[in-house]
Amino acid sequence: MDDRRIGIFDSGIGGTSIWGEIQELLPHESCIYLADSKNAPYGEKSEERILELSIKNTEYLLNKDSKLIVVACNTATTNAISYLRTNYHVPFIGIEPAIKPAAINTKSNIIGILATKGTLSSSLFHSTSKNHAAGITVIEQRGTGLVEMIENGHLESTELYLLLESYIKPMLDQGMDYLVLGCTHYPYLIPLLRKMLPEHVTVIDSGEAVARQTKSVLENNDLRTTATKKGSHQFYTNGDEEVLSKILKKSDAVYSVLSRDF
Ligand code: SIN
Repeated sequence: MDDRRIGIFDSGIGGTSIWGEIQELLPHESCIYLADSKNAPYGEKSEERILELSIKNTEYLLNKDSKLIVVACNTATTNAISYLRTNYHVPFIGIEPAIKPAAINTKSNIIGILATKGTLSSSLFHSTSKNHAAGITVIEQRGTGLVEMIENGHLESTELYLLLESYIKPMLDQGMDYLVLGCTHYPYLIPLLRKMLPEHVTVIDSGEAVARQTKSVLENNDLRTTATKKGSHQFYTNGDEEVLSKILKKSDAVYSVLSRDF
């Protein structure tokens, strides 16, 4: 049993989609969330820079006494998680694109994956794709520019719709029936995706699976909280506090948002 908090970091606000699933499944746990929006997007940065930023975020969370760290960013997971697991003493949960369920359930044998350049070019992504999607056509599409627009809070703009459509349409033309969201910012695109995807196309992301994995790692390491009241959640951002607050407004969790330079 351990009443310390779960630490979560992302290149910005996207990982709040993962935090939402975690606090729903584990309502008594408290979390501390770092939104490194000042350095977003990670997806266009070099592997060395992504590692450097992931180390900085990890150390910040460990200094705040986190008991487990969720790397709520696909790009940071694919480029830095092995290093973090080897060099720090707490358990780490990473986010990998949900290729496996898409590959199992596809009827057309064609799945699309929308992710950042940093994720799609990583060796972890390639080995996952090779292991889980043998015999399946995997269309890899970079979502260049999407994270920046989401970070700016332009979630319903025509500009965002058109950019997203320019990535999705070629995948539809090739017969994709599953679309895997390989970036934790992208679940915020689901309302727009619903407008442009035919009904037979299923969209999947990793949020629920990551929450289940977090629960099982906490249990296996005897790290579950003893609290019986709802947890509290602290969000630190080095970007626009208002954009983060707007995203969180829909949640009924007990939380505070703090502006910090980290
Ligand atoms: C980014 O910062 O470019 C995207 C974060 C992610 O890959 O989840």
